[in-house]
Amino acid sequence: MGHPVLRQIAEPVQDPTGQRVHALIRNMIETMQDADGAGLAAPQVHVPRRVVIFHVPEERSGDTEESAPTPLTVLINPEFEPLTDEKNLGWEGCLSVPGLMGAVPRFTNIRYSGFAPDGSRIERVAEDFHARVVQHECDHLDGILYPQRMTDMRRLTFAAELERQARRAPVEV
Ligand code: NI
Repeated sequence: MGHPVLRQIAEPVQDPTGQRVHALIRNMIETMQDADGAGLAAPQVHVPRRVVIFHVPEERSGDTEESAPTPLTVLINPEFEPLTDEKNLGWEGCLSVPGLMGAVPRFTNIRYSGFAPDGSRIERVAEDFHARVVQHECDHLDGILYPQRMTDMRRLTFAAELERQARRAPVEV
């Protein structure tokens, strides 16, 4: 947080099948896996291009098709639209805001689309965490970090503190 590239509007990728974008994607996957994160956007590795990666791990999944565990997905030039006005509040962390967690309102149901690295088109409907991670990563492409989406800054906390509290009582947001 604070690096200018994280405040920029990222540029669209002209050719999703190109070697340069594939090298970028490999770097992003490695970075996300090293950090044990659920998602990453290209500006986080200091490349201002519209590329995000994410997955929905078992422990963050729900029991609908739209919130089910989802394997690693690469989305190039992603777009999304909310399907309803409903938002819910959930805890988010970010590799670019290390050590902190915040409760962030996000649309509960979205439709998103973009291109896969082989040039094919991806279009999906997503709910709950799946919808959340896509919105979080797409925000990075527009220079927005999650604290800017928070509506109650009292819910910005150290991750270690949140963990301590969670051990005492279930977290309610
Ligand atoms: Ni992030």
